[in-house]
Amino acid sequence: MAWFGRKKKPEVLSDSALPVHIGIIMDGNGRWAKKRGLPRKAGHSAGAKTFRKITRYCSDIGIKYLTVYAFSTENWKRPEDEVRSLMKLFKSYLEEALADFKDDSIVVKFIGDKAPFDEDLRNLMIENEESSKDRDGMVLNIAMNYGSRDEIVRAVKNICKDVQSGAVLPENIDEQLISDYLYTSGQPDPDLIIRPSGEYRISNFLLWQSAYTEFVIMNKLWPDFETSDLDEAIKIYSQRNRRYGGV
Ligand code: IPE
Ligand code: IPE
Ligand code: MG
Repeated sequence: MAWFGRKKKPEVLSDSALPVHIGIIMDGNGRWAKKRGLPRKAGHSAGAKTFRKITRYCSDIGIKYLTVYAFSTENWKRPEDEVRSLMKLFKSYLEEALADFKDDSIVVKFIGDKAPFDEDLRNLMIENEESSKDRDGMVLNIAMNYGSRDEIVRAVKNICKDVQSGAVLPENIDEQLISDYLYTSGQPDPDLIIRPSGEYRISNFLLWQSAYTEFVIMNKLWPDFETSDLDEAIKIYSQRNRRYGGV
């Protein structure tokens, strides 16, 4: 009775068909707003509501790790007022919405470099990580100022420092060691990455970690994304034949 006690039994197959780690590129907020003649920030607010709904649903159906792409290292080049409204939104979310993840025992982690965010936001991020770290539920990685190339550059620099100090021997550098220097250290690689809004690209998300990830591109814009769309993505995933280079 794997589903016993959960709020909703998903429309997906068995437990074994369920991905352990799902990544979501939360894309399409701007187009959603444009279609309605609204400013882009209205799309980001609507997207934030979807984030809350889908996160809770993933936790309810027994997903162990969820990584959401919220803001990339490249998103700083957007118009100043859009970046400002996104930062405002992140602040209000970290104050309110993340508090209710407590009920679901969700562990919150931020992946990406916190340094460029203002002090209030940085403190909120740290508080959320600190206060949730001993929970036993789903791990929610929120990718903020995240770029996979930046993550790999940082890992290389840190490995070099540890080689210089003698803590790491060059002959001991292997795939596992590199994984251990990434933000996602200790976590399984994503099984499934979902990109709504119909774009067929990875946009600098989890490049190393997604070597054998299954991709599902969906046409819905993120603010329109429903729990049934997540079920659909999981169903598509469960029908894939993952060979990892074998036969
Ligand atoms: C994703 O939606 C949110 C962020 C990148 C912060 P977009 O803002 O990229 O929406 P589109 O792609 O312009 O529709
Ligand atoms: C990727 O979406 C980043 C996030 C969803 C946070 P973008 O909208 O920035 O990606 P591109 O520009 O379409 O590749
Ligand atoms: Mg986009």
